[in-house]
Amino acid sequence: MVFRLLRASSSQLYRSIIARPQQRGYPQHRFLLKRIGKVSPVSSMSFPSETISYLGQVPAQKLDEDLMGPLGFSVDQLMELAGLSCACAIHEEYNTATHGRVLVLVGPGNNGGDGLVAARHLHHFGYQVQVCYPKQTDKALYRNLVTQLESLRIPFIGVETVLEASLASQANIVLDGLFGFSFKGSPRPPFDGLISSMARAVVTRKDGDNFAIVSIDVPSGWNVEEGDMAGLDMQPDMLISLTAPKLCAKEFRGTHHYLGGRFVPPEIVEKYGLVLPKYPGSSMCVKLDTVSRDVSNIRKMYETEALSDIHMHENPMDQFAEWFEQAKHCKTVEEPNAMAVASVNSDAQPSVRVVLLRGFSDHGFVFYSNYESRKGRDFEGNPNVAATFYWEPLGMSVRVEGTIQRLSAADSDAYWASRPREHQIGALSSAQSSIIESSEQLLKSYETMKDEYSSKDVIPRPSWWGGYIIQPHSIEFWQGRASRLHDRVIYTTDSTTTDSTKHWVRSRPSP
Ligand SMILES: Cc1cc2nc3c(=O)[nH]c(=O)nc-3n(C[C@H](O)[C@H](O)[C@H](O)COP(=O)(O)O)c2cc1C
Repeated sequence: MVFRLLRASSSQLYRSIIARPQQRGYPQHRFLLKRIGKVSPVSSMSFPSETISYLGQVPAQKLDEDLMGPLGFSVDQLMELAGLSCACAIHEEYNTATHGRVLVLVGPGNNGGDGLVAARHLHHFGYQVQVCYPKQTDKALYRNLVTQLESLRIPFIGVETVLEASLASQANIVLDGLFGFSFKGSPRPPFDGLISSMARAVVTRKDGDNFAIVSIDVPSGWNVEEGDMAGLDMQPDMLISLTAPKLCAKEFRGTHHYLGGRFVPPEIVEKYGLVLPKYPGSSMCVKLDTVSRDVSNIRKMYETEALSDIHMHENPMDQFAEWFEQAKHCKTVEEPNAMAVASVNSDAQPSVRVVLLRGFSDHGFVFYSNYESRKGRDFEGNPNVAATFYWEPLGMSVRVEGTIQRLSAADSDAYWASRPREHQIGALSSAQSSIIESSEQLLKSYETMKDEYSSKDVIPRPSWWGGYIIQPHSIEFWQGRASRLHDRVIYTTDSTTTDSTKHWVRSRPSP
């Protein structure tokens, strides 16, 4: 088992986790949604996003190189078409009467260039555009784009001004052109502040506000393949994928997903095995289906429908993947990955705390913590653990029992490296579970660590912090039903193998 985990890189592990529900395919997903009565027919205007290709970071970069190499495109041509696609997609969804004020946030690379082009087209479409472009580059291409906007008297505003007030008070649409598919690691100032401001705007928005965040190609700060790994909570309302959606688009939960970049020649389609929708007429963009994301009234269904055996998977991890997907897409479940984990110490005293699930696969459930914390010490002495998820708005709960072990150092390193710098410093500053004199002491320790690492780009993972995996031998699915006649289905195994070949037996205890 350890060997297997050592060999599976963290990103493989995560990909197997995150991609799983989609990998099971479109028809099954729709079947599930049909059960909950939320499926509407795929309109001729939108294309089912489950059936199209998604690109990883390296193929996306290679594809760009191919376009600009043997296929004869120049970067400014591609940027012009990308920016035009974005402006057209925005115009499809948000009209100038209700969403007339646009603030374009421009990053230092090509994604920012797409934003500058989109700003120009949006101006010509009748929007009142402002641009925030904090780290301007001196390349002629970008200088020219800025000159073009200045000649249209489009105001450029400073990042401090943008951060002074809520984004919703400054614009109806924030066009996020900060980072695209080349982005890695965690965002640095001033971009981190702009991203937090977008995240805050989504959370504080009220019903009826004419406000939307629209991301170009990749929501800023997201890992290109795995989504919001850094926990920045930046969920845009609209995503405009360019050329082909990137893998992280599978994690997009907003309402409108468009594809733009109508320039892909057949060589590229063949070389990268792309399945892409046809653009209608002369349109520069095509809408992808996101109907399946809206499962917010799922609760009613679970009060009336039974958890029937024929709808349950043979493998409980597949069943978990299906339920987790529902929890993730339920707008009122804010942290679907919060789970309570119980440990038992050497005096047989149990204790329980909430942690965040950071991955799951046939091998088990992954989370990260301090190995020297109370739980860490418990696990060393007694690897028997239990965990519970409760997704209250859905009336669904999952209970897990099993044994725990540490993830490989390589997997822990990979996850540590993906964390925002402040989280890394936070972990270094806290001897988790030990008693401190005051919160000031903790803040002081944080500042000391921050200074200590101020000149270093990379903060190494301390040996006492890392991942755990719970390897289940029992998983129960609980679904609340009317009159307290809840459904419970338990999968158990006595097999010691840790992959999908494990044999699971199902039973149904009384509620
Ligand atoms: C929503 C939520 C998420 C949390 N996620 C984690 C986590 O992923 N890892 C962790 O070590 N602690 C996490 N904590 C803090 C733990 O609940 C707990 O306070 C901490 O791990 C110390 O527990 P211990 O003293 O029993 O070891 C989280 C708390 C909450 C409320």
